[in-house]
This record gives sequence, C-alpha cells and structure tokens, in this order.
Amino acid sequence: MLRTAFALTLCLSGVAQAQDLEALKLDTRKNALPVLPKVVAMMQETVAGKGAVAAIPVCKEAAPQLLREQSEKTGWAMSRVSLKTRNQAKGTPDVWEARQLADFNIRAANGEKVETLEVGEVQVDNGKPVFRYMRAIPVGDVCLKCHGPVESIEPALKQALASHYPEDKAFGYAKGQIRGALSVKRPL
Ligand code: HEC
Repeated sequence: MLRTAFALTLCLSGVAQAQDLEALKLDTRKNALPVLPKVVAMMQETVAGKGAVAAIPVCKEAAPQLLREQSEKTGWAMSRVSLKTRNQAKGTPDVWEARQLADFNIRAANGEKVETLEVGEVQVDNGKPVFRYMRAIPVGDVCLKCHGPVESIEPALKQALASHYPEDKAFGYAKGQIRGALSVKRPL
C-alpha cells in the first residue's frame, strides 16, 4: 500500500514537472522565436535589393542586435550557436549546446522536421535553477549565398567573408540542413 502511494506520488510529480516544462517551452517560444523570421526577411530583402556583400551586416550586426534587444526585454541570455561557426568567438556552443546540436542532426536524419526541432531542460547553473532552450535554425535558399558550398560563393563575397573571418567553417550547407540553433538560458 505504502509502496503504491509512493509510486503514485512519484508519478504525479513527474506529470507536474512535464506540465511545467511544457509551459516554459511555450513561453520561451513566444518570446524568443519571432526574432528568427525577422532575420530571414531582412536577409532576403537586403540580398535582393543591395546584393550579398551588402547583406553581410544582417548576419553580423542586425541578427545579434535583435537578439540583444529581446534579451534585454526578457532578462534571458540569447545567442546563436553552431557546430560549424563563422564567428568562433560568438557562435561556439558550450558542451550542452554541442550535444543538443548533434542530437538535432540525428533527429533530422530520423525524419523530424528541422523547422520545429527544439529542446528544453531545467538545469542547475552556478547553484541556481535555469531553463535552457534551443531551437534549430534551418538553411533556406537565401542562406546558401553565404553558407553554401565554398565553390559556389561569388568571388567578391568570398573575399569579403575571408577578410573578416579567417577561421570560417560555415560553408558547405545545403537547403534544409541545420545551420545552428537559437539558444536561450532563462533564470527560474
Ligand atoms: C550575406 C551573407 C550571409 C547570408 C546570406 C547569411 N549569412 Fe549567416 N552569417 C554571415 C556572417 C558574416 C556571419 C558571422 C556573424 C558574426 O560575425 O557574428 C554569419 C553567421 C551566422 C550564424 C551564427 C553562427 C556562426 O556561424 O557564426 C547563423 C546561425 C547564421 N549565420 C545563419 C544564417 C541563416 C539561417 C541564413 C539564411 C536565412 C544566413 N545565415 C544567411 C553571413 C551570411
């Protein structure tokens, strides 16, 4: 009897935790994800209107700026991370992020839709609970201009990228692959 009650309590707390986790994911999505389509739209507009070289600042400045603004609004840390970075200093994942990015690639290979790949987890960070969330960033047509196979990149663009990023690993992507992820860390 005691055992059953104990098992039931355990089970119920598991349900409560799962519900909390869903609520946290939902709220994180609502506050963090709108940045992603904004960057894509800005990139498409700039490439079409001014050309790819002039669009470098969209990924270099505008995207981080939008994340910074959203970060200030919410009080959550937000960044873009990738297993193959262009900007090593800003985009290198920590151990947990690298593991999730690898897992995203496996999940995508197993047929999950890249556009909706996400993960959310409560962790202890420096003794305090945090909610960590990651959402895959898919490669769309416009991204190939600067992240596609290196031999397909326009020479002037290749030169401009090389002058800023001597350690650039962010080439060789195909449409529909995972370029990286939006990573959010929020204190609880
Ligand atoms: C005009 C060139 C250009 C295009 C087009 C472009 N990017 Fe980038 N991308 C860059 C540059 C430059 C950086 C490095 C930014 C920095 O210095 O932080 C970058 C960095 C990134 C990063 C951060 C991780 C890293 O590698 O440093 C992500 C994620 C990313 N791009 C995704 C995309 C996606 C998704 C698209 C299509 C919607 C796209 N990019 C289109 C130039 C481009």
